[in-house]
Amino acid sequence: MKTKITLSLLTAFALTSIAITPLHAKSKLPYQDASLSAEQRVNDLISRMTVAEKAGQMSQFVGLKHIAEAEKQLTAEQLNNSDAHGFYPGLNNDDLKQMIVDGEIGSFLHVVDAEEANALQKLAMQSRLGIPLIVGIDAIHGNALVNGATVYPSPISAASSFNTDLVRKASVETAKEMRANGAHWTFTPNIDIVRDPRWGRVGETFGEDTYLVTEMGVATIEGFQQGDFTGTEKVIANAKHFVGGGDSINGLNIAPLDVSERTLRQDYFPPFKAAVDAGVFTFMAAHNEVNGQPSHGSKFLLNDVLREEWKFPGFVVSDWLDVDRLHTLHRVAENHNDAVKLSVDAGMDMNMHGPQFSKAILQLVKEGRLTEQRLDASVKPILMAKFRLGLFDQPLVDETLAEKLNFHPEHQKTALTMARQSIVLLKNEEKILPLNHKQKIFITGPNANAHTTLGDWSLPQPEDNVITVVEGLQKLNSSGSVKYLDIGNQVKQISDEDIAKATEQAKDADISVVVVGENPLRFDNAGKTSGENVARAELDLYGKQLDLIKAIHSVGKPVVVVLINGRPISEPWLSENVEAIVEAWEPGSFGGQAVAEVLYGEVNPSAKMPISVPYSEGHIQSVYNHKPSTYFKRYVDLPTKNLYEFGFGLSYSSFEYSDLSIDKSTISGQEQAVVSINVTNNSDVAGDEIVQLYINDEFSEVTRAVKELRGFERVSLKPSETKQVSFVVNQEMLAYYNLDMQWVTEAGGFNILVGSSSRDADLQSIRLQVK
Ligand code: BGC
Repeated sequence: MKTKITLSLLTAFALTSIAITPLHAKSKLPYQDASLSAEQRVNDLISRMTVAEKAGQMSQFVGLKHIAEAEKQLTAEQLNNSDAHGFYPGLNNDDLKQMIVDGEIGSFLHVVDAEEANALQKLAMQSRLGIPLIVGIDAIHGNALVNGATVYPSPISAASSFNTDLVRKASVETAKEMRANGAHWTFTPNIDIVRDPRWGRVGETFGEDTYLVTEMGVATIEGFQQGDFTGTEKVIANAKHFVGGGDSINGLNIAPLDVSERTLRQDYFPPFKAAVDAGVFTFMAAHNEVNGQPSHGSKFLLNDVLREEWKFPGFVVSDWLDVDRLHTLHRVAENHNDAVKLSVDAGMDMNMHGPQFSKAILQLVKEGRLTEQRLDASVKPILMAKFRLGLFDQPLVDETLAEKLNFHPEHQKTALTMARQSIVLLKNEEKILPLNHKQKIFITGPNANAHTTLGDWSLPQPEDNVITVVEGLQKLNSSGSVKYLDIGNQVKQISDEDIAKATEQAKDADISVVVVGENPLRFDNAGKTSGENVARAELDLYGKQLDLIKAIHSVGKPVVVVLINGRPISEPWLSENVEAIVEAWEPGSFGGQAVAEVLYGEVNPSAKMPISVPYSEGHIQSVYNHKPSTYFKRYVDLPTKNLYEFGFGLSYSSFEYSDLSIDKSTISGQEQAVVSINVTNNSDVAGDEIVQLYINDEFSEVTRAVKELRGFERVSLKPSETKQVSFVVNQEMLAYYNLDMQWVTEAGGFNILVGSSSRDADLQSIRLQVK
């Protein structure tokens, strides 16, 4: 039975009737004067604040509707046993209201609509200094925790498009939807590098490659913040999780990471450093420990690297309850207060989330263990963010805006374009695809008519806003020749009866489309198989999905498998047996339409894999940028290879690469070389090709990866058209950390590899000498 614990919070909150004293009614203090610079206003305001008010600014709480929703979905026992949902035993609605009015809360997360945001801001306006709240939310691919938002394809999809302009555009649009709903700060981009695809969070990352992740992360930040985010249509981005969550031991979320400083600096830091250079104003520490030190208590990460080396000017927010976990989980602090001290000393500025943090801060200041100066260092950037976002001057949002901006037609277009560009064609034997309208199509599978296309970090969306694969196909072909068998939408639950029925029905069709994969829906507690905290030990198709495909395949008609999934699926049988495989990832609101268009050839697939697919989970790590000796020896039981390589993806066009050239065979100092190649579309179908450039260092003091991506470009080619694609190569692109941990480019030979994927067979090579 579901039980209510603090349900009174929400309802009483909505009915709040505390009188509001508008700011302009008070006599204007310098910090209230919009004609002064943000800097001047921050300095004035901070000089007026008490220690308690400063601790309040460093404290974040979970939005009240979000709490109520968690309570609706979970039983009392589940809530008590889980730390995944925010609620505050012992604090009731009035207590929380009072805390805002008393200036004890600086931020909320997961406030899901403008009405709630305004109610909270009105309370903040009554506080002694009237400091507005900054509202954060996980708008990871669209503001999808909000009902009615545009759900863009998830980051792993976006990365497959290799289209940074689209990612920037989607972020600009998402910022607008967020502000219309009262939120100012998105906890994205997730720029973790994935080294273990068993991790449930692959879908919210840009994959395994440092360069691609960096490019995608920067585009995301640029879109959300658009410079210094001054104004009312932009939001603050958040570089997370600092650092290493995608390489946790055993692929389990939060588990430790043990890694050399070289790998940290060479592979895991660059997206974060680039985020700082792109102006990102907030960072989130990672759940995990790194080399024995939990990130939340790591002075090395949060201070020495982030602030001293990289000159990060913004503020660091903790991840969910992780400050306390220094005590309760990692056991590097003997009690809660010590945990807070350790974390703040290391460089933490805001606690996500709950009431104990500020109490600890006050106690630590009282005991002389934390200085007020230290608090000022945290509070200043938090206030700076609020000034630049315009919150002091306009704390409330027009409640009619959300209806106009959520799922705006322009945003829908972007989401659809991105979906079209992010679907990877993995296999197409004998050109079985595209389908033609005369064929009798049989479609089934747990993801055929499900909202799993929305990916993780989405809450339920209106039925009308989501196009499933079945709906997409039936929209394109209304002749009745597409027959759908509903076998439910749970990848974990496929019955033998349904498999038998499907096999029967497949016999009447010319071709079968089976839509399988994962269930990433965070609200589907029993059904989900991927997403946050949903790691898998195996990477095969969950449950009886492969049985279903095998049974349908046994009929002897061609089978197209469509994968909807947020992490690589490793199923060699599919690669060896079915006629076509479409990797659709988590393509968002219009995912089903885009998949159908690809199946019918109205859209020519152009995406490439942002992550490799291992032959089995035993093959992990399976990254393309491995060291030279990695595959010197072989496995005795299974092939020593990946199922699909990074950068790989087929098209209905056929592209030919020719005339690789370089304008200089030697460079020194600041000189740069230009590498060019011709790409020809040798088919009668127009298409996009993603041309990739990798580098390979012939000899180096420290071993280097066999190849490292350093450039890509998406080009559109009409039938028979040839285009020349050029890349600039300079010494910075060839640099690495030498034995003394210096970032250098060693003199010597480099191979510049250009082509259609990271596979050797798809690359042409030209030599460059560095003097
Ligand atoms: C996740 C973060 C997220 C936060 C707030 C945490 O559990 O690790 O990525 O931003 O929750 O939802």
